[in-house]
Amino acid sequence: MSEPLDAVRQYVQFLREREGVRKIRLSKTARQGLKVLAGSGRATVPSPALPEARTSPERRSVTPEPVQTPKTAAPVPNIVAWTSTGLSLSNELPVEAVSGSTKAEQLLHLAERASVCVKCPHLAARRHTVVFGVGDPDARLMFVGEAPGEEEDLQGEPFVGRAGQLLTKMIAAMGLSREQVYIANIVKCRPDMQPGVSGNRKPTKQEMETCAPYLRAQIDVIKPTALVALGATAVEGLLGPIGTIGSLRGKFLEYRGTPLMPTYHPSYLLRNQSNTEKRKVWEDLLKVMERLEMPISEKQRGFFLKN
Ligand code: URA
Repeated sequence: MSEPLDAVRQYVQFLREREGVRKIRLSKTARQGLKVLAGSGRATVPSPALPEARTSPERRSVTPEPVQTPKTAAPVPNIVAWTSTGLSLSNELPVEAVSGSTKAEQLLHLAERASVCVKCPHLAARRHTVVFGVGDPDARLMFVGEAPGEEEDLQGEPFVGRAGQLLTKMIAAMGLSREQVYIANIVKCRPDMQPGVSGNRKPTKQEMETCAPYLRAQIDVIKPTALVALGATAVEGLLGPIGTIGSLRGKFLEYRGTPLMPTYHPSYLLRNQSNTEKRKVWEDLLKVMERLEMPISEKQRGFFLKN
C-alpha cells in the first residue's frame, strides 16, 4: 500500500476513535484522489471514507459523540487532505512548499492545510473552526493576537468578540479598516476549556510552538512592513519569553527582519479603561503609523490626551 494511503487510513482511524466521527462524506475529488493512491481501477476506500477539507463551522456532517480529551498526546498521523490545490500531506509545513502564484492563493493554501490540522489533538477535538486569519494579503500592517476565543471559534474569524470590536476601533482610529490590514493569532485553534468552564486560557508553550509554522508562513507570504504584537502572549509566541509587556511596549523589536511593535492586548484596555492606558497603546500605534509613513492629523496626535 502507498504511504499516503496508509496516512489516509490512519487519519480515518483517528477521526473514528478520537473524534467520534461515524460517517464521512466523500467528495468527488477525494474519490478521485483515493483511486490514484490505490492504483488504477476501483478505489479501495478506507472505511469510513475521507472527509472534504474542513473550512466551515458546519464541517461535520454527523454530530460526533462527546469527545474525551486524551490525557497524553498520542502520536498524530500524517494528515492527508484534499484541498483546492490537490492532495497535501499537511503535517510538514515548509513554507517553500506553499503553492499558489499570488499571495491570496498562497494564504488560501495555507488556510486549507491549517483547516485539517490535528497536531494538537485536544484542540482539534474541541474546536468549531480553525481561525486562520483575515484581511488583505498585501497588507503593510499585520496585527498578531494570542488565540481565538469562544466567538472567534464559532465565527472562524479572529478578533470578532469584545476585544476584537475594540481592535477594530483602534484600526479605524489609525485611518484604516480591518480589510486593509491583516489579523492573525499565534495559535489558530481555541485553547480548550474544561466542560462547563467559561472564559479563555492562555495557550501553552507547546501549543504555541506547534502552531508557530502557520504564523511564520503567513508572515512570510504577506511580508508586512510592520507587525503589532497584541499582548504578552503574542510577543512570547513570536520572540519567546523576553520580558513583560509593560517593559517591552512602545519600542520596536524585530521578528525575522520585520519591525515589531509590542503593545497591550485590547482586552487589557477593556479591563483598564483609563485614558492613560488607552494613550499608551495609542502612542505605540502612532509610532507604527510613523514607521509606515502614514499621514497623521493633529486630531489623531491628540487622541486620549485628556484625562
Ligand atoms: N483575543 C485574541 O488574542 N485573539 C482573538 O482572535 C480574539 C481575542
